[in-house]
Amino acid sequence: MVKPVTKAVFPVAGLGTRFLPATKVVPKELLPVVDKPLIQYAVDEALAAGIKDLILVTAEGENLISRYLEHADALEVVLRERGKELELRSITDGLPPPGSLTCVVQSEPLGLGHAVWCAKELIDEQPFAVILPDDLVQADPGCLAQMVAAYGKTGGNVVAVEDVPREQTARYGVLDVEMEYGRLARARGLVEKPDPVEAPSTLSIIGRYILQPEVLGYLDRQECGAGNEIQLTDAMAKTIGKIPFHGLRFQGRRFDCGNKLGFIVANVAFAAAREDLGGDICEVLAPFI
Ligand code: G1P
Repeated sequence: MVKPVTKAVFPVAGLGTRFLPATKVVPKELLPVVDKPLIQYAVDEALAAGIKDLILVTAEGENLISRYLEHADALEVVLRERGKELELRSITDGLPPPGSLTCVVQSEPLGLGHAVWCAKELIDEQPFAVILPDDLVQADPGCLAQMVAAYGKTGGNVVAVEDVPREQTARYGVLDVEMEYGRLARARGLVEKPDPVEAPSTLSIIGRYILQPEVLGYLDRQECGAGNEIQLTDAMAKTIGKIPFHGLRFQGRRFDCGNKLGFIVANVAFAAAREDLGGDICEVLAPFI
């Protein structure tokens, strides 16, 4: 029996420089895909996978993301008074249950590994998930739920993976694959952002992880890797050989919403899948494509 995953870390301290000026005031995790912010998709996916404790790793200062995940009392009163039940539900249904949300501050932007390490005390030696909200996955069941099911069989560390075009490997953590069975790929190594000519494969990590607390032990060393940042991939790589490491080829479509093109495509794809918009979207887009 593997220990269940009940905690999830959401690193949301980035500056969102690729989306300026939109992200000058609004963090990128609050940018909407159709009518829902990226952080809401991430929280929905975590809760659907059985996560009970949500840990936001935020930058210093006023935090609009945690505010978004709290009740908006005044707005709720107005909507209730006006009988706007649907609108009211749209701002209350997806909130994390009382007491389930905690924020920790990452005071310096030292990398993804550092952001996750900042949550160490709250993770408290338990297995945990990491969700990068700008990787949006359209899937049913959700990507993390698929990973939890796979983890029930493999234990150890599990990451979501997909093949990317070889010329894009320098954007990702890439698996050195030992063997594949079904949707699972067992890794014998990992490389963060390899040059396409040196990449051990094209099987790349997308922003979903189930990790064992051992990974945090390696992050304690605060060693810098690619881009002179403390990399989560490097710490995960050090556990290989000690605990199992698998990539799961999840079922669904992933959109890189940290990238303008990916973000636009995500909006179209999610709108097309909606009952209230799907029919119209193809019609209105036809003149542009
Ligand atoms: C991070 C990770 C990388 C992973 C990617 C997925 O990179 O370091 O291993 O493949 O997320 O989106 P970033 O996009 O923060 O540069």
